This record gives sequence, structure tokens and C-alpha cells, in this order.
Amino acid sequence: MTAGSGAEPPIVSRARAVLCETYARPPITLVSGAGAWVETADGARLLDCVGGLAVNVLGHAHPGWLAAITAQASRLAHASNLYYTEPQVELAERLVASAFPSRVFFSNSGAEANEAAIKVARKWGRRHRSGAHTIVTLAGAFHGRTLATLAATGSARYGEPFQPLPAGFRQVPRGDPGALDVAVDDDVVAILVEPIQGESGVVPLADDELRRLRGLCDARDCLLILDEVQTGMGRTGRMWAHQWAGVVPDVMTCAKGLAGGLPIGATLVGPRADVLEPGDHGSTFGGNPLACAAALAVLDALGRERLIERADQIGELLRESILGLAASGLPITEVRGRGLMLGVGLGRPIAAATARAAVAEGLLVNPIGDRTLRLVPPLVLTEVEAQLAVERLGRALSAAAAEPEPGPG
Ligand SMILES: Cc1ncc(COP(=O)(O)O)c(C=O)c1O
Repeated sequence: MTAGSGAEPPIVSRARAVLCETYARPPITLVSGAGAWVETADGARLLDCVGGLAVNVLGHAHPGWLAAITAQASRLAHASNLYYTEPQVELAERLVASAFPSRVFFSNSGAEANEAAIKVARKWGRRHRSGAHTIVTLAGAFHGRTLATLAATGSARYGEPFQPLPAGFRQVPRGDPGALDVAVDDDVVAILVEPIQGESGVVPLADDELRRLRGLCDARDCLLILDEVQTGMGRTGRMWAHQWAGVVPDVMTCAKGLAGGLPIGATLVGPRADVLEPGDHGSTFGGNPLACAAALAVLDALGRERLIERADQIGELLRESILGLAASGLPITEVRGRGLMLGVGLGRPIAAATARAAVAEGLLVNPIGDRTLRLVPPLVLTEVEAQLAVERLGRALSAAAAEPEPGPG
């Protein structure tokens, strides 16, 4: 069967029998990958502009990354956090050097990194702000799927079935400084935002807005927490997206690309917010030597292969070429985002149809809602591959635009 078309492959019914169906996925089974390419069980090669949802920053089977995890696994894959390990301490040193003066708590995912940030804010509020504990977030946010991060996310669709969610979160509309001014009252201990909202369609926060948030946090004695789970690790053309705006957060979270495909999360806590003490938090797997060795290999490759500068250059190339498709009459309204975190806005509700047609053309892209395609490819994507991706995207958009529009309901 060709990837994404024809009869249902057996793995779909096997999965339906034994997996909780929390993901709506096309009938594509991925079996291997190399660089920016993945191969399906039926032998199709797809140019991967999803990159494990911004995880595979070095692409698939990167030689340096493979060598590092193989060597570490053969020595010590896991050790309890009751003991020190060299890769964990070295990774923390290098993360701190890449970001701002801080100390690091390691976990296993973006949601966990944000949970740690929420705990930091709560403890800081008890210690410095008479127990103030409300955290302000922006509409359209996505901070994870645990109960507290769902409350921070504030989306009815994700959170409603699981009420009651933890209290202490307040959401304000995006781009409304007046509403923010009112919302950040005496109960508020922190503002938590993504520099570019990923899950709601690649919606950037302007650098000025980020600077304004920093100013507001200073004026009201709150913490600025930046969720760089998706924007971090060079993806936007800077190591951390907030570095474009020249602001320094009090707390920053990262995950996704950090270990290039092994689970890890990290919460960086600046001196002002450095309140965690022995016993306050913990994680069995958080920052284990295998994940940390993988992350060190990612940092090495980012530097050696100049992947952060390349993310900026290839991102611009992609943006220009996609806007070229718009100029040729395809229903593209805008390209949002920075570096290799791009959202292609569509003038018609054909995102899902385009993603399906793209598979037939040999390309993976991620539809968000009806009218956005997200491109978060590996940072190793070459110029030639970027041009190929745009050609394939153009053909997919033409095919999807030629289909009859879905009717209401
Ligand atoms: C900005 C942001 N924060 C948090 C998360 C949650 O990360 P995880 O799925 O690793 O828990 C995501 C995941 O998409 C994200 O994009």
C-alpha cells in the first residue's frame, strides 16, 4: 500500500485493539530514518518537515548522536538521582552557559518541565509575595497535558473532560496590553508564555511584546517564565527564541529538541527564582546519563555544523519560496514564525487535505486546525531539500485546492 492511501493496513486494527486512541493519525507506519528523511513500512521515502514535532533537530540517525548514545548506553544508561553523573552535570553547565545565569532541574518532557516551573513560582510566591500564586497565561497557549499544565493551557477542548483542573491560573487574550495590565494584580506571581505559540498555529509574540512582559513582571514583582519547549535548541535561528528580543526570563523550560529524540525536560531557574531545595521536587528518570549524553551530542552538533545559523538561513529560504507559491496563485495567506518553526496560513480550510496530499507527494507536514500547516523540520535540512519540500508542498496544495470543499459539519 502506498503511504497514506488505499486499504487500512493491519497495524491500524492491531493498534485500535490495544492502544488508547488519543491520537488521530493517518495510516502511516514509520520504520526508519536518515537525515531529514523517513521511510515507511511500505518503502515510501518522505521528506520529514514534522521532525517528531520539533524533536529531531539533528534529523534521524545522526552519526555523532548515535555514537554518543551507544557509548553511554554501554557504560551507564541510567542511574538514580541519588548519585551524581558526569553527563548530567556537564549538560547543566552547558545549558546555563547558553542561556542566562541559572541552575537546572531535569525531567522527562515539556509538561514536566513546566510543572517544575509552576512549583518554583508557587514556592517563590509563598516566600516572597505573601502566598500569591496565580499564574497568567495567554489565550492560544499550549503548556502540556498534565492537570496543572492543562490549566495553564486554558483550552476548553483539551481541559473540559478533566475538570476540575488545579486552580490558580488566569488567561488573557493575546495582543491586549490593557487586559494584561488588569489581569496582573496582587494575586499574580508569574506570567508564563511561549515566545512563539506552536500548537495553536505558530503564532509569534512580537519582540516588543516580550520586552513589555518583562517590564510588567519587574513593575509588579512577578516572575517571567518562558516556555521554550518548542522554540528552543536553535530552532528559531537563535539558541533560545527569547534571545531575539534581548530579554532575560526568571525561569525557562525546554524539552523536545534538547536530546534530539530521547525524552528529557529541563527547567532553568535564574537567581531571583532559585528556591528549590532538597526534597522539593524529583524525578526517577529526569536527566539520566543516556538522555544527557544525547543532549550533549545535540549541543556539539549545533555548534560544529553551525545548525543555528543554518536554521535562520534555511528558514528564510523556505519562507521566501513558500511565499513564491502564494504569488503563483495557491491559497496561502501568510508565513508566520521564525527560522525552522514556520506556520503556513491558508486562505481555505484545506490543511488536513493538503497534509494528506503531501504524503502522496513524499512530504510530511503537520496540519493545525483547518487553515495552518506547521513546518518544524530537522535543522539539518539542506537547501536542496528545502526547495524539494516547497515543490512537493506546492503540488499538494494544488491537489487539495482542487478537491471539493468539505461541507458544514
Ligand atoms: C510550548 C510547549 N510546551 C509544552 C509542551 C508539552 O510538551 P510534552 O508533550 O513533551 O509534555 C509542548 C508540546 O507540544 C509545547 O509545544
